[in-house]
Parts: sequence; structure tokens; C-alpha cells
Amino acid sequence: MLFDSPSSFGRAFRIVTFGESHGSAVGVVMDGVKPGLPFDLQAIQHELDRRRPGQSELVTPRSEADRVRVLSGVYEGRTTGHPIVLAVFNENQRSGDYSAFQEMFRPGHADYTFQRKYGLRDPRGGGRSSGRETLARVAAGAWAKQQLSALGVRIRGFNREIAGIAAQNVDWDFVEANPLRSAEREAYEAQRAAVEQAMATHDSVGGVAEVWIEGLPVGLGDPVFAKLDALLAYACMSIGAVKGVEIGAGFEAARKKGSENNDPLSPEGPLKNDAGGILGGISSGAPVIVRLAVKPTASIAQSQQTIDKTGKPSEIIVKGRHDPCISPRIVPVAEAMCALVVYDLWLTQQGLVDGSVPSAEEWDWSAVERLLDR
Ligand SMILES: Cc1cc2nc3c(=O)[nH]c(=O)nc-3n(C[C@H](O)[C@H](O)[C@H](O)COP(=O)(O)O)c2cc1C
Repeated sequence: MLFDSPSSFGRAFRIVTFGESHGSAVGVVMDGVKPGLPFDLQAIQHELDRRRPGQSELVTPRSEADRVRVLSGVYEGRTTGHPIVLAVFNENQRSGDYSAFQEMFRPGHADYTFQRKYGLRDPRGGGRSSGRETLARVAAGAWAKQQLSALGVRIRGFNREIAGIAAQNVDWDFVEANPLRSAEREAYEAQRAAVEQAMATHDSVGGVAEVWIEGLPVGLGDPVFAKLDALLAYACMSIGAVKGVEIGAGFEAARKKGSENNDPLSPEGPLKNDAGGILGGISSGAPVIVRLAVKPTASIAQSQQTIDKTGKPSEIIVKGRHDPCISPRIVPVAEAMCALVVYDLWLTQQGLVDGSVPSAEEWDWSAVERLLDR
């Protein structure tokens, strides 16, 4: 199982996230880290900076510094082998913005189901359902990314689509240089105009984020329940506002013929990559391509029909500081979730060579040992 409790994720490298949007802190406990590894806090802060709000006029105006602090597990710049606890203390919370939601449910958000399930909820910022929880995933994912990078695995993402306007190509230099993390200049201006239009009309738009995992060996993932694609889909669907996950050609594969969709094989590996780097749940050596459908932000400052806590019909206008499109901020979260899946698999899997399934004696531990010996 990928989780033992609803707030934990992973097996060999296990994380537990904690905290609410308007509580005192949000953070993560990371367990399963070998002692003596250099701990690069700046690299973690860098990833958090990519996720944090207030970075441009096209995202929420909430400006949170999101300074990460290490509470345990690191001594003199190295891991101790004990749980590493990372926390960001909340600073820029305006709980008053949420007083109206104490009694009423926001359409599209988690208020209704939280109230019905738990009989109570923290309405300030959505509590545990807040996008703020994802900073904890990004912090842990940054650690996983660092470890994977040392093994030659690179994980990066962009937005393929914003407001239904799709990019055809990826210009990696452009991705982190524009506030939408849009894939290319050609699509960006129209996407930006659509986001601005949504802001002007108190509405919101969705997007399609895409993550590339490059440098994987053949052999990560298992049939049947632990297929790499199944694990990635699970991980990415756990992000708030994600309503669909595709691998490779994804839903487009359903519209192709077999002769078009199959990736011909050569001695060097697949000649194209409609399979998205995964065959039979196992990495094929080609880049793994994951796409996430991100819904338009639920919180919009328009009058919407809803009910109050007693079930009485009502109207709500969701004020407050919200992203008109969540997709730009989802990209680093999606990268983090993919990194957590791959890193955990790397620590637990042995059939990494040529896709063959070796006997226990033949297992190639060198990749794992290389990692642990660093
Ligand atoms: C980084 C991030 C930021 C988010 N910001 C907002 C926001 O400002 N307003 C909002 O209504 N939802 C926001 N969400 C989405 C909600 O968390 C999500 O829609 C809600 O929990 C309901 O879950 P569901 O959409 O998966 O059903 C954000 C999600 C993420 C990952």
C-alpha cells in the first residue's frame, strides 16, 4: 500500500504531511532517510518558492514568504537518519476572509463533504483541503528530486494548456520565465488574455499540467497493482483540483488505431513514445509523460447557488484572495508527487536492468547502493 493513514504516502521513503491553511504551521515528516547525506535546504526552499503564492499578477495576491525551517533530523548540514521534520510557519493569514463560509458551503470546494463526513470543519482557508497543504509535498518532493538527480533522473513540468488554449511545443527556457509556466511563447499571450479575462469577470479557468520524468532505467514499477502508471495517477490525483491524469497519449489513444498508437521497438528502445515511457506498468527507458487535468478554481467572486449548514438554499459570493488559474502553481506540486513515487520505487525495486526480472541473488543493488553510499 502507498499509505497506511490518509496523511501518509510512500513505503521505503515515507512522508506524513501536517497542518492547516490557517493553523500555526504546515509541514512534513520524512522518514526513511539514510544518515550522513548532505542536506541542501536551499534547494528545498527553491522548490517552495516555485509553488508559493504572490509571484505575479496572474496568481493570488496573497504574499506568503513560505520560509522552510528544519525542526529535526539534520545536524551540521547532514541527515542524522532520524525523521526529518520540515515546517513553514503561517504568516499572512486573513481568517476574517472566511467568516462567511462558517455557515455556508462553497460550490466546488470540500466544505460540503467535510461537514457531512466529520460533523465539523475548519472553514479558514479550507483547513486540510487547502492548496497550502501541498507545500509539504513540495518540500519532501524537493528532497526526492535531489536524490534522483544524483542518479541521473530529471523531473520537470510545464503547462500544456491553459483555458483550453494548447501549446504544441515545449521551450524549457521559457517555462520558468513566464508566470503561467506556459510551454511556449506562441500560446502564452492568448492564455494570459484568457486568465486576465477570467479575473476581470470574477471567474476562473483550468489547465493541463504536464510532467516529464527523464533518465529512468528500464524496470521501475510492477504488475499488477503497483504499476508505475497506476502509482503516478494515484499520486497526481491526490492533488486538490486535479480531475484527470493521462500517461503518454492518454485519452487520445482511445481515438487511434493500433497501427498508429503502438510504439515500434528498436534495439535502442521505443522509436516514439505514445506509451508515455511505461509498458505493462514498468518503465521502458523512454521519458515518462504524465498529464494532469486541473479544474478551474472553485472560489469565484460571483453569486452562486448553495445551501447553508441546515440545508437551507442560499447564495454565496466567495471573496478572498484566490488564484484565477491553479495550474501554474500545480506544476511544482505535480513534479514533487512524481518524484516521491519514483524515489520510493527506486529504493524498493531491484529489477532495474533490461526489464528482466532477476532472482534475488542476481538483483542489481548497485543503483540503490550508489544512492545509499553517497
Ligand atoms: C497549489 C494549490 C492552490 C490552490 N488554491 C486554491 C484557491 O485559491 N482557491 C480554491 O478554491 N481552490 C484552490 N485549490 C484547490 C482546492 O484545494 C480544491 O479544489 C479543493 O480542496 C477541493 O478538492 P477537489 O477539487 O480535488 O475536489 C488549490 C489547490 C492547489 C494544489
